[in-house]
Amino acid sequence: MVITDQYAVIGNPIAHSKSPLIHAAFATQTGQNLEYQRILGSTENFTTQVQEFFARGGLGLNITLPFKHLAWNIATQSSANANAATAANTLTPCPDGGLIAHNTDGPGLIRDIVHNNHIEIAQRKILLLGAGGAASGILLSLIQQNPKQLIIANRTQAKANALAQRTLTNHPELVNMVSGIGLDQLHDLSFDIIINATSAGINDTIPVIPEHCLKPHGVVYDLLYADQPTQFVKWGQTHGARIALDGLGMLVEQAAEAFYIWRGVRPNTQVVLRSLRG
Ligand code: ATR
Repeated sequence: MVITDQYAVIGNPIAHSKSPLIHAAFATQTGQNLEYQRILGSTENFTTQVQEFFARGGLGLNITLPFKHLAWNIATQSSANANAATAANTLTPCPDGGLIAHNTDGPGLIRDIVHNNHIEIAQRKILLLGAGGAASGILLSLIQQNPKQLIIANRTQAKANALAQRTLTNHPELVNMVSGIGLDQLHDLSFDIIINATSAGINDTIPVIPEHCLKPHGVVYDLLYADQPTQFVKWGQTHGARIALDGLGMLVEQAAEAFYIWRGVRPNTQVVLRSLRG
């Protein structure tokens, strides 16, 4: 009997996840024979669920909220991106029985911004809103693009400071590039690119930032996505943004990075993105 290669996404909630659709489209497009399921994760049994999946011969897992940190914790090896984020969105099995943690969120975001939308990050002033899991997941990838400045601004300033400090501990040479401030300290500052990595959008709201925070013809990017323009995309559109993007492109690109890790093939993401935008 031929057993089809098994992949899955685990999270809680999980019913809404578009990952099975995206990976099925990648597989069809590239002629790869695989199955990709959803698994409803349990906080009490997450580790066992992951171990059982791989013990049954599973070849790769995507991890979504709220298990990304835990997934990184249970892995025996980790990529630089996963370590920087202290979180994993992709797990692969090691030949010795352990697990390797990857984090493709940052590379997915960069691919969407720089490659798909032709937006330069190098030498630009970047504002990263939020200092939670989503922000720390993309920080290293943003820094690697060599922006002129990267300010992390958070409602709770101490968390922005802590995230900046953690980065500077690992990369002391970035002291003039990276810093953390409170949202209430943004008054005289303006940026070429503003990235919303807060979870405010879940409540259909946005972080409170000054009117002139975005430079004329700047770019806003919301990690959140929805069928309609998100509140932050709308903020960009009404504040002179040249481009205002939601996070659907990043979702497809982070999936493509995982697909590449698993299958060694790069799918055409634009076809899939267009069909999701429908
Ligand atoms: P995630 O994994 O989505 O990043 P998280 O780790 O809980 O979730 O972090 C949520 C982030 O969104 C935090 O930076 C949070 O700010 P605080 O640290 O001050 O809580 C930010 N956030 C959530 N709602 C917000 C709002 N209405 N305005 C501004 N920031 C908000």
